[in-house]
Amino acid sequence: MKIVETVREVREQVRAWHQEGLSVGLVPTMGYLHEGHKSLIDRAVAENDRVVVSVFVNPMQFGPTEDLESYPRDLERDGALCQKAGASLIFHPQPEEMYPEDFSSYIDMNTLTGGLCGKSRPIHFRGVCTVVAKLFHIAEPDRAYFGQKDAQQLAVIRHMVNDLSFGIEIVGCPIVREEDGLAKSSRNTYLSQDERKAALILSHALKKGRESVENGEKSAKALVELIRKEIQAEPLARIDYVEVVDWNTLEPVEEIQKPILVAIAAYIGKTRLIDNFIYE
Ligand code: PAJ
Repeated sequence: MKIVETVREVREQVRAWHQEGLSVGLVPTMGYLHEGHKSLIDRAVAENDRVVVSVFVNPMQFGPTEDLESYPRDLERDGALCQKAGASLIFHPQPEEMYPEDFSSYIDMNTLTGGLCGKSRPIHFRGVCTVVAKLFHIAEPDRAYFGQKDAQQLAVIRHMVNDLSFGIEIVGCPIVREEDGLAKSSRNTYLSQDERKAALILSHALKKGRESVENGEKSAKALVELIRKEIQAEPLARIDYVEVVDWNTLEPVEEIQKPILVAIAAYIGKTRLIDNFIYE
């Protein structure tokens, strides 16, 4: 497995593979890889002849007061994980490689990006779409892998690929959790011991929510209330949003009809965490 930093090296390698008739899978990440990322890489390795993992903490998707500087990084560990999982290439560009000084083209989406995380992170999805589009052009994959952990991101990328006719299959992968239910995230490393315990309230509240839907709850408002109440019982948690939306359009729904996305974001101390379930 090779680690390269330039667009040119990725392109040369991927084109050589394509010429040999080999299929290529891409797993875009911001590094500090955990079991969640690994599940994407495993799936990509199973479904493609070669797998490229990008490791790039994308400055464009972080707001001015967000955690760009403190975002955890450990390329050595990421390299070992990718190699063990069977990836063929890591693309680890410096920010200047992706965004030269005169960079001035962006991908903005009019739908899907205004609600949920887009409300409190107004420039986030422009950064995500722009970097992912670049990665698609650079690595020219047959398939690209995204986690349902970031459900809005998955929906946004699917939409972008369709709108802009990228001939790439987008594969969505289920959320990987810690044994106690907390969704795996690179940001979990920010949590103190007490916060780590408190963070369990998110998956716990969603579990209660899912049970109520499975037991026939039809009112989105009642479902939101139930989940809010659960989270509010935890003093260290502060809700950003709890929403029930149509899984295809991400528009809020009143009556629960499948498929829906039930998504939450909450601060545990200073750390913002997200979690969700899809009811299909
Ligand atoms: P990052 O947060 O590193 O996540 C990379 C991929 O791993 C995303 O598709 C995310 O949904 C998936 N992932 C993270 N935690 C997961 C979990 N617990 N279970 C399953 N999948 C999980 O998402 C990004 O990076 C960036 O926005 C990126 C797409 C790379 C663009 O910069």
